[in-house]
Amino acid sequence: MAVRGVSLEYRTPERVVRATHRIDLDIHRADRFVLLGPSGCGKSTLLKSIAGFILPIEGEIVLDSRRVSEPGPDRIVVFQEFDQLPPWKSVLDNVAFPLVASRALGRREARERARHYLDKVGLATFADAFPHQLSGGMKQRVAIARALAMQPRVLLMDEPFAALDALTRRRMQEELLGLWEEVRFTLLFVTHSIEEALVIGNRVALLSPRPGRVRAEINAHEWGLHSLGGETFQAASRRIHRLLFDDGAGTVASEEGAG
Ligand SMILES: Nc1ncnc2c1ncn2[C@@H]1O[C@H](COP(=O)(O)OP(=O)(O)O)[C@@H](O)[C@H]1O
Ligand SMILES: [Mg+2]
Repeated sequence: MAVRGVSLEYRTPERVVRATHRIDLDIHRADRFVLLGPSGCGKSTLLKSIAGFILPIEGEIVLDSRRVSEPGPDRIVVFQEFDQLPPWKSVLDNVAFPLVASRALGRREARERARHYLDKVGLATFADAFPHQLSGGMKQRVAIARALAMQPRVLLMDEPFAALDALTRRRMQEELLGLWEEVRFTLLFVTHSIEEALVIGNRVALLSPRPGRVRAEINAHEWGLHSLGGETFQAASRRIHRLLFDDGAGTVASEEGAG
């Protein structure tokens, strides 16, 4: 997938807000590509544009040589909110429904595939439960299973673990990486946490605020959950912190600290 010179704006009768300015990105198959930047720098807007919900005012987004102009089953988004799941559908039906609705599969095959992915996220025994019976972390797992079941070309995640408590968040990061090892999907992951970016990503694009521009791209291959707390990891976090802060604009989540 290629993002080429993409600028995005919100227009209201009173004013125009430029959310991103001429963003260039290349995302390769099986990348775990992270967009990292302070709150308000246009990460969600860019993700929505890649998903096809917002059209660029300049530039283009190309997936498999086709220009993105609308939402499609090749790009599925997992959001931060826990209420992405229709509450009246069982867990299994939540995962199977988009497969049937998009006519990707018939009802039987859809339920089979749904079970397969529920199993992968450790929720096989909750297939008949309803969303209100699940914890926040479990609901996020269902949302991930539902997205993966569609077998998108790229899975888009917008701060999917930001609303979880610290321990659950860590476990979800671990699981996501485990899932990736197994399925090798292409991931575009948004976060404002430097630590999360380094743990999840193999490549990290740093966005500067207002409007979001690509400030640097970092190779994050060597870092994972195993490197947390290590010296080189801390040094990398500090370097990124400086890169994001140096023009004095915006703030990045301080939980990581600069050490
Ligand atoms: N619906 C909207 N209408 C007008 N401005 C918006 C809207 N959504 C977001 N913005 C503005 O666009 C900028 C980028 O927002 P967003 O993409 O949500 O940032 P991030 O996800 O990085 O926190 C911000 O300045 C925000 O206030
Ligand atoms: Mg956002």
